[in-house]
Amino acid sequence: MTVLVFLDPSRPAGRLADASAAQLLVTDQGVIRGDGVFESMLYTAGAVRKLDAHLSRLRGSAASCDLDLPGEQSWRAAIATAVARYDQERTADPEDPDEAVVKLIATRGPEDQPHGTAWVTVSPAPESGRRQRTEGVAVVLLDRGYDSSLAERAPWLLQGAKTLSYAVNMAALRHAHTLGAEDVIFTSSDGRVLEGPTSTVLLATRVNGVKQLVTPMVETGILPGTTQGAIFAAAEAAGWTLGYGPLEPADLFDADAVWLVSSLRLLAPVTSIDGTPISRDRALGTELAALLEAVG
Ligand SMILES: Cc1ncc(COP(=O)(O)O)c(C=O)c1O
Repeated sequence: MTVLVFLDPSRPAGRLADASAAQLLVTDQGVIRGDGVFESMLYTAGAVRKLDAHLSRLRGSAASCDLDLPGEQSWRAAIATAVARYDQERTADPEDPDEAVVKLIATRGPEDQPHGTAWVTVSPAPESGRRQRTEGVAVVLLDRGYDSSLAERAPWLLQGAKTLSYAVNMAALRHAHTLGAEDVIFTSSDGRVLEGPTSTVLLATRVNGVKQLVTPMVETGILPGTTQGAIFAAAEAAGWTLGYGPLEPADLFDADAVWLVSSLRLLAPVTSIDGTPISRDRALGTELAALLEAVG
């Protein structure tokens, strides 16, 4: 079941539409060029998690592409309409996990129209996120083929923006599956750890009793993760020390725990890298998951 709401200047609360029927023009540049931006958010227990951070990143991604977006109030109103309809239509099945994904999508629209297309969908969250949280995930390191200073040299490559052009990310995941792994950690051509195709990499180490949390630095052209941001803020308040790359693959093997984190999977512990099992300090993961849960 997917609920669909278009942002529409003539309907302040958004326009509900049938997600199972054709809705987009085939000339929309979001469809033919992947020219647009998006966000995926977790909706659970009646709340959209980290909504402000996602709206802010959507705006940043759109600015990188010179894409005009509807105003923030229009997004908030459409999201409210969409989740209200989702709650109405959702079957009250206690077996049904109370987790949905809210997607915000904005494209450049058809070439001959002055305005882009923007919509919100709400649908049940994929089961894989919940499974990865508990079972963990085997990853392979894959070369992204760029060096870690490319983003600064070549802003037109839109590194670090959440654009609709995710075909490469999905191809990397399929490649990992052929190698018997479930997910990927990208590395740069100069040997830095970057990010997953749909996640941020976090690692934790205990140093003389102090818990240290480290993530690759965004200057390497990775997406600034809203989950990483929320975990870092909560961990710092709880006394952890924080660090930002540069990181190399050896750092992943030396850490006491490594996770792929994102809005839908939350924290997924990495269990092996390129077939080599890695440390998994479960207490660290339990603590970070509780900190993330507390911030909502
Ligand atoms: C490339 C990439 N990096 C990181 C993330 C994690 O971002 P967030 O925690 O905001 O979901 C995502 C999310 O889909 C992503 O696509």
